[in-house]
Amino acid sequence: MTAVNTEPVLILGGGLMGLAVAHQLARHGRPVEVLSRRRSEAAGFVAAGMLAPHAEGLSGAQLQLGQISLERIPTWVEQIEADSGLSCGLRTCGIVVPFATSEERDVYPTASLGQALDQAELAKEIPGIGPGWQAGLLFPQDGQIDNRRQLMRALEKACVGLGVRFQEGIEVQEVLQDGHGFQGVRIRNAEGELQTLAAQHAVLCGGAWSSQLMPELPVAPVKGQMLSLQGPRDALSRVIFGPGTYLVPREDGLLVVGATSEPDAGFTEGLTPFGQRQLQAGIAALLPEAKQWPPMERWWGFRPCTPDEGPLLGRSSIDGLWLATGHHRNGVLLAAITAELLAACLSEAPLNDSQTSLLDAFRWNRFQPER
Ligand code: GLY
Repeated sequence: MTAVNTEPVLILGGGLMGLAVAHQLARHGRPVEVLSRRRSEAAGFVAAGMLAPHAEGLSGAQLQLGQISLERIPTWVEQIEADSGLSCGLRTCGIVVPFATSEERDVYPTASLGQALDQAELAKEIPGIGPGWQAGLLFPQDGQIDNRRQLMRALEKACVGLGVRFQEGIEVQEVLQDGHGFQGVRIRNAEGELQTLAAQHAVLCGGAWSSQLMPELPVAPVKGQMLSLQGPRDALSRVIFGPGTYLVPREDGLLVVGATSEPDAGFTEGLTPFGQRQLQAGIAALLPEAKQWPPMERWWGFRPCTPDEGPLLGRSSIDGLWLATGHHRNGVLLAAITAELLAACLSEAPLNDSQTSLLDAFRWNRFQPER
């Protein structure tokens, strides 16, 4: 039998990854403390919540990681719902990718994993779809989760119920290490006081801000602007994933519309007329009737992007400091497998072959030339 380690683990970042990892660690009996600077800006609140490894056209190890996570999501959501008493809004509603021609459809990277649709079949799946689309791919295995209104709250409540401690308004300024590895962090609290928190283990879940703490991590922000419209309930049953714009219908008719992709914006906050016009043009092309639906909310956030757009998972350059960051466009999808892998890294039990190979594929230093 494996002994339970009772030393607290610090989670650096209170977004979706931070909460998901904290939740799994707490379920494994580990004391956990989440340090967060401003939870409201976490990408977990900003994303549209698509579960779309196939619709996003992923390939290679990223497709494999996404497919494994998609498989884990129902059980992961059941755990969160049981621990919190709240629904996460998971819907395996299928995602349709429309194309201007059937030739474009047939060369889509994941075409062989979806159902090919001709124009009539596409119109049946998406009543009211714009006239510019002649073909489509339906991925019935993909779906969505209501991250902004439900999942984040449910995870937070599940964590609190399992005894996870939260500290909000904490800026982690420095990672402390000695010859043996991670020793803790230097923080500034909301009242401006500097403090040292000693710990042997931490997980960096800093999203787009990760390289501010560890400059060797190749993570940069890619800004995304979004909006939501209130449509009639059941106007749309599938998610539509178009080029540059996607429409995600929630159960109550709210339509989440995403998203611009602005790598040059850095951390510039705010909406821009250009970005919002881009989204309007996407809505008009995909579902013209939705142009009449009233806008309910507009927001923006920062995706944490790495050079190959895949996450950084597992060991860092400092023993005892682990990584769960860089999930770019697929954080909601990948939260389940990320939490599982990080809980495995921090457990005393040996990793299995699949965990070892996934952690190797997503090691933080894979971009450095081999010596
Ligand atoms: N997963 C969609 C996005 O990042 O916009």
